[in-house]
Amino acid sequence: MKILIACEYSGRSRRAFEQYGHEVLSCDFEPAEDGAGNHYQGDVLEILEGGWDLMLAHRPCTYLAVSGLHWNGRTPGRAQKTEEALEFVRKLLNAPIPRIALENPVSCISTRIRKPDQVIQPWQFGEDASKATCLWLKNLPLLQPTKIIDGKLYCCGKPLENDDKYGCPNCHGEKKAKRIYGNQTPTGQNKLGPSEDRWKERSRTYEGIAAAWAAQWAEIGVSNGIASRENMQFRQPVVFDLFGADCVS
Ligand SMILES: C[S@@+](CC[C@H](N)C(=O)[O-])C[C@H]1O[C@@H](n2cnc3c(N)ncnc32)[C@H](O)[C@@H]1O
Repeated sequence: MKILIACEYSGRSRRAFEQYGHEVLSCDFEPAEDGAGNHYQGDVLEILEGGWDLMLAHRPCTYLAVSGLHWNGRTPGRAQKTEEALEFVRKLLNAPIPRIALENPVSCISTRIRKPDQVIQPWQFGEDASKATCLWLKNLPLLQPTKIIDGKLYCCGKPLENDDKYGCPNCHGEKKAKRIYGNQTPTGQNKLGPSEDRWKERSRTYEGIAAAWAAQWAEIGVSNGIASRENMQFRQPVVFDLFGADCVS
């Protein structure tokens, strides 16, 4: 298969798909972090018509994430940036490519374009991390979890010794215990403090997720023809923490 990984500088999905013998190109305004790979540094819109069989797209979420939209009414020009970001997403979703997956955090793509087909979490793919990620799919099956990691149960900001899901003696179970993962503070916020490259640190695709879509979607390429999306849907995995507050880059 000829595969385009749009808006990727880390090379993680590129390398994962390459393991299955595919011809893969990553594309980003940024140089490829791994230096050597098959990477186009430039605008992905220029190369959408390259005869691709599959595109995986990681659109930046800055002007789309639900958690940042409240700034649109208070920051001149920001609402226009959201409109431009939505237009970019439409161009990606309507690209002349038979199979497309677009990933983004919980964002206004859901209300302005269409609801995602699936919401996944890195902890469903062997990663000790929480980050709700939506997938919009064209002619691809839902991604199946590969390995569930259970975060430690916390209540009232403290770990529960006995993993008692009914809460802690402090609140006598009034508050609900919450699973906390390696990338979170005890209250569920992202641990990474402000820094110049925070967006980069937070936006790299998790290796466990890259491995899963390469394994599951690369296989699709060897089937005959393209099944309808309805026929290709598998059982929707259970998703917790759907609206985790971790979607602003
Ligand atoms: C949220 S990051 C995704 C990072 C990705 N998950 C990875 O592991 O490398 C979004 C990336 O999209 C890139 N980008 C935005 N618009 C683009 C465009 N028109 N063409 C190519 N890359 C673009 C940005 O430079 C940024 O690196």
